Amino acid sequence: MMWKDSYRIGVERIDRQHIELFRMTEDLVKAVAERAPVEVYQKALGFLTDYVIYHFRDEEDYQASIHYSGMEAHKEEHRQFTQTVLSYETKLRENGFDLGTKKDLAGAVTAWLIYHVADTDQKIVAGAVSAPDESAFDRYVDLFAGSALEVMETMTGLDRTKARRQAAEGRTLQGDVFISLALVGDLKGSAVLGFSQELALYLVRAMTMMELSEVDELVQSALCELTNISCGNAATALAGRGLHCDIRPPVLTREAPCGGAPDAVWVETGAGGLTVALCLDSPAQPPRA
Ligand SMILES: [Fe+2]
Repeated sequence: MMWKDSYRIGVERIDRQHIELFRMTEDLVKAVAERAPVEVYQKALGFLTDYVIYHFRDEEDYQASIHYSGMEAHKEEHRQFTQTVLSYETKLRENGFDLGTKKDLAGAVTAWLIYHVADTDQKIVAGAVSAPDESAFDRYVDLFAGSALEVMETMTGLDRTKARRQAAEGRTLQGDVFISLALVGDLKGSAVLGFSQELALYLVRAMTMMELSEVDELVQSALCELTNISCGNAATALAGRGLHCDIRPPVLTREAPCGGAPDAVWVETGAGGLTVALCLDSPAQPPRA
């Protein structure tokens, strides 16, 4: 089962809805994995879409009732996610429910939902929105690596204290699947996460609770969402230091996407290797906290 009791926020009606959302997501993932007939899949997706809309509205009402200070930003996350699901629905109808698109959707929904409930929704009851991470880092790439490990821990329970980091400058970036995101603003260039196949499968198995043996569209899509979240968190931490940078949508490649000599860290996570690299247009030193 994908749901974990640690995801409870302690508000009975919201917790019940979250459990239902996880159950519906699980049904959708199963329908994809088992290549269920299109009617079964459509039904699962229809239930999920309707329930997402109903639940978001109710959760926002709850946030308003307690005058939650982070409500506007939270609503925006709900809005964007609803938009993502609806545009996948359109795409699926147009392409006759193509298997690759179904897998894409399953991976994206799973990863988004887990992180949203395990992290973002927890802040509703924790009170004010937490301050951006102010932990020390000497290089930007260390911030991005720390952020990636934090997100992996939240989403999959991977113990980040067991991860071992090593500088990897000047080496060819290691990995079987690379996901890069363009950075624009005060920091220009791209951020790259390179996942070993072992780590990629471990992470998405832990999210879906399913046996997966290949890095297919579902796995790739979940990793894209994970990368998006972790780079987004790093950008928020940078904004806390007065540096404004926006991230662009993640792009997946099988080859290391940047040549030259990026700032890079190799992380042995305990569940497989991860490369984190920053390919900046001009080298920059982080400001002191
Ligand atoms: Fe929410």
